[in-house]
Amino acid sequence: MQREPSFNSQLATLPVYVPGRPIEEVAREHGLDPATVIKVASNENPLGPSPQAVAAMQRMLASVHLYPDGSAFHLKERLAARFGLVPGNILLGNGSNEVLEMIGHAFLGPGTEVVVSQHCFAVYPIVTALFGAKLVTVPAWPDFGADIEGMLAAITPATRVLFLANPNNPTGNLVSREDISRLLAGVPAHVLLVLDEAYLEFLDDPVDCLPLLRSEVMPNLMLVRTFSKVYGLAGLRLGYGMAVPRVISGLEKTRQPFNINSVAQAGALAALEDSAHLEKTRQNNRDGLAFFHAAFHGMDLSYVKSYANFVLVRVGDGAGVFAYLQKHGVIARPMGSYGLGEWLRISVGTPAENQRCLELLKQAIAAVR
Ligand SMILES: Cc1ncc(COP(=O)(O)O)c(C=O)c1O
Repeated sequence: MQREPSFNSQLATLPVYVPGRPIEEVAREHGLDPATVIKVASNENPLGPSPQAVAAMQRMLASVHLYPDGSAFHLKERLAARFGLVPGNILLGNGSNEVLEMIGHAFLGPGTEVVVSQHCFAVYPIVTALFGAKLVTVPAWPDFGADIEGMLAAITPATRVLFLANPNNPTGNLVSREDISRLLAGVPAHVLLVLDEAYLEFLDDPVDCLPLLRSEVMPNLMLVRTFSKVYGLAGLRLGYGMAVPRVISGLEKTRQPFNINSVAQAGALAALEDSAHLEKTRQNNRDGLAFFHAAFHGMDLSYVKSYANFVLVRVGDGAGVFAYLQKHGVIARPMGSYGLGEWLRISVGTPAENQRCLELLKQAIAAVR
């Protein structure tokens, strides 16, 4: 006789997402003052949230006894206006991770396939496995760049979704303009092309795919973005997808009624207006990337030139260096779960954080060697 409920079979092999470690937890574990610990593990905004967003969220707190507007009318209107779209083009998620999961609900199941590039964002394989679909991973180029021709060639009649982050996490590299054009032209109509643009706002001259949605010439294109990175609102959990209204209304069926809380809606609306904070964040990131690129070059360490807000660097014993840094109050991200055990991913911090991180990294590499 069966003694316990049985799990769905796909859970047996479901990959587990390993997040960056929280400051409080690391401080407790190593007997450190949390105020002295810095986290460069999750590609958050080191300048914090927009002060205008904080004020708007504080105002909203007095109304949290009420359910939020489940349709997030104002936020969708504002996003649509900003991008020259209509609200029916926008799907909001509890983090863009939820948008990725809704794509799974709507399009994936046993017998379907998903195409990704090697070293892709960890959530794509998780969503694929969660819905019992088959993951087809196309080897990346030696510089970690996605092989776009290879990804197109991996598409079969069973393929439902192709996920590609640009810039990519955890590598930080950028798909060229030519490769994006090749992908847009080559992806067949039965495949939803999901371009994950979580880090797009850090680019000076991003490829703009929005015209393809405005004109509805590409009904199988979905752009995914987030308030967690450049907007500094990771803790609120808010992301969005943009596609033609037919795709969005299908995905909306899979959405929980109140998935975007009222504080998040208020914070996001205010953050969208704070262009000064956005520009400060972008400048800090440009400076931080230049700092790390130059430093790693000077140290003769291999690194991937980054277009996002973090840098992937080869440190040798990634787990050992991570542990050393952590013991001394700097939380970076080990890459073992991405199959990159010799590498570490370091998010751009403030100038002082970058400096401290680099000094400690030099010590760590010497100590662990
Ligand atoms: C490429 C990419 N997509 C999506 C996400 C998910 O972000 P969120 O769920 O916080 O919006 C991340 C977060 O690190 C990411 O790197």
